[in-house]
Amino acid sequence: MSQEKRTILVTSALPYANGPIHIGHLVEYIQTDIWVRFQRLRGHDCRYVCADDAHGTPIMLRARQQGITPEALIAASAIEHQADFAGFRVGFDNYHSTHSNENRLFSEQIFERNQAAGHITSRTITQAYDAQENMFLPDRFIKGECPKCGAADQYGDNCEVCGSTYSPTELKNAVSAISGTTPVEKETEHLFFKLTDFEDMLKEWTRAGHLQPEVAHKVQEWFADGLQEWGISRDAPYFGFEIPGHPDKYFYVWMDAPIGYMASFQNLCERSDDLNFDDYWNRDSSAELYHFIGKDIINFHALFWPAMLSGAGYRTPSAIYAHGFLTVDGQKMSKSRGTFIKARTYLDHLNPEYLRYYFAAKLGSGVDDIDLNLDDFVARVNSDLVGKVVNIASRCAGFINKRFEGRLDDSCSEPGLYRSFVDEGDAIAADYENRDFGHAIRKIMTLADRANQYIDANKPWVLAKQEGEEQTVQAVCSTGLNLFRVLVTYLQPVLPAMASDVEAFLNLPAMTWDAIDTPLTGHTINKFKPLMTRVEQEKIDAMLEDSKDSLAGQATPAEPASGPLGKDPIAETINFDDFAKLDLRIARITRAAHVEGADKLLQLTLDIGGESRNVFAGIKSAYAPEALEGKLTVMVANLAPRKMRFGISEGMVLAAGPGGKDLFVLHPDEGAEPGMRVK
Ligand code: MSP
Ligand code: ZN
Repeated sequence: MSQEKRTILVTSALPYANGPIHIGHLVEYIQTDIWVRFQRLRGHDCRYVCADDAHGTPIMLRARQQGITPEALIAASAIEHQADFAGFRVGFDNYHSTHSNENRLFSEQIFERNQAAGHITSRTITQAYDAQENMFLPDRFIKGECPKCGAADQYGDNCEVCGSTYSPTELKNAVSAISGTTPVEKETEHLFFKLTDFEDMLKEWTRAGHLQPEVAHKVQEWFADGLQEWGISRDAPYFGFEIPGHPDKYFYVWMDAPIGYMASFQNLCERSDDLNFDDYWNRDSSAELYHFIGKDIINFHALFWPAMLSGAGYRTPSAIYAHGFLTVDGQKMSKSRGTFIKARTYLDHLNPEYLRYYFAAKLGSGVDDIDLNLDDFVARVNSDLVGKVVNIASRCAGFINKRFEGRLDDSCSEPGLYRSFVDEGDAIAADYENRDFGHAIRKIMTLADRANQYIDANKPWVLAKQEGEEQTVQAVCSTGLNLFRVLVTYLQPVLPAMASDVEAFLNLPAMTWDAIDTPLTGHTINKFKPLMTRVEQEKIDAMLEDSKDSLAGQATPAEPASGPLGKDPIAETINFDDFAKLDLRIARITRAAHVEGADKLLQLTLDIGGESRNVFAGIKSAYAPEALEGKLTVMVANLAPRKMRFGISEGMVLAAGPGGKDLFVLHPDEGAEPGMRVK
């Protein structure tokens, strides 16, 4: 099974910093993360980097509209995006920003190298100009009537009613979407990247197996239409990097965005002793480089990017992996139907691993769109994960725990059956490698059916009541758990959180693909805890309802984060005076109760020595109210009261832990009294 260790660098497309992550985006980040986790499970060195795409006119205008600086907007977005990705267990090695020093340096260098090689040209063009706002208007900021069907209020590049594409000068009664005034035509000089210089190189590269067949085919059509020079500069005002030697001209956002892959990796190298940038990006690098992207941005990755890299003396990607778009219940995500679901809204209601599993089950290696059918989602997760996979463990664990003190049989009673599960590994691995996750899942579920059939046929619950069958009960249940371990190993890239719970339950080190070669014998396991609960329809309904609610609240960062760019405000230090301001007190939880309509909150009544406080705490995942009453905790007593949907919260309790069931708020009882100061 073991093969040579590969050195791999993987990226996902960089999400724009002016909006929230939604479940459409997640198709990509989950797909990439599964592939990366698979490579690591196989023992390869696989690094995964991403960043926020922070430049461009929309970001500049959105910041202006919110009355904050673009830097403040992108800092807030960086925090939100990373929290969302962490919630879905998308495990980047680094998450950076295109508005970073590294990216400025690489952008300038790649531009200058291409310029020195004669691949940059300039000429004067005429563009729509908003004379009131004193700015040139990108196509998306001109509105008017469609020249083909006459539909009103269409953008300058395509009509959402009849689907035709055109240039903004063809729009009838065009107005600036910013000021509402009629744009005028104005001349301006711009820089162009001579894509045409790379025609031969690109023809060869796009036919050499770096692209999926259907993508390569599409690209051939573009060659047939003829390659064009690509405009890489924009006029001020613009949020981006000024072009060296061209005052008031800025790099177009799509020029420096893919360079953000390099910048993020360079930033990772700066922090890692074992990584060397050149090993991955030099022309003769033996490392593998993969970009996962959506099908809407193929031209940037399959043409401009390899051309720019090659013009600057860098290596080109090993492959570009494009995926299709997400629809919900067969239709485009829609705010009015509540199917424009933000990552955060999903996380407020449902276990992220349900979605990871569902997407995996639906994903193939091509660019077909994938549909999230919500009824199918509920049925599939419940029947496959809860009904088949977890069921194997819950049927076997109790007997082993109760009758054999957690000890598995000393030998494997069904070596043939076990071997057949392990032997399926090569085919499953090939599916993962080819991004045929749907096929991998199908194979794994077929094995899960066989494991359940084995248990059904041997009925440990019947044997358990018969005399003299002790050994058989242990043998059957041990085999069941061994098969379960193989299945969870295969599912680890898709369900990392459940897999780590299973590691704890089976008392194992981190899973590897090779470890399943040998079954567990004479091994002691831990107590079984439910690994995954069923999806409840009410949760889905509530999520859709909340998605309707959040219609207006599009990614409005609460407040501008302070501190220099790239610095993580969460980790910012406070000085002693800041610390001294915290009034930390021991509090007795006199009452704890569920909150009607809240998924995460418990309502606590806290006694801090004669004074009573009402606090809402997001600890429902870890504690039942009964477990808290009468116990001590630590609270921040001088936090300003905050109005919440359910009432006013007058302070906060301090909790520690990774979240979910592992959140700890209780304080040992000895010697502590409500009201005591803690410091
Ligand atoms: N900023 C650019 C990418 C620059 S890469 C150097 C961008 N950002 S995006 O936020 O619009 O999209 C990020 C990724 O998510 C893209 O690959 C895009 O195709 C993908 N998706 C965005 N919406 C999607 C769906 N509804 N469905 C599937 N993928 C989607 O493009
Ligand atoms: Zn039209």
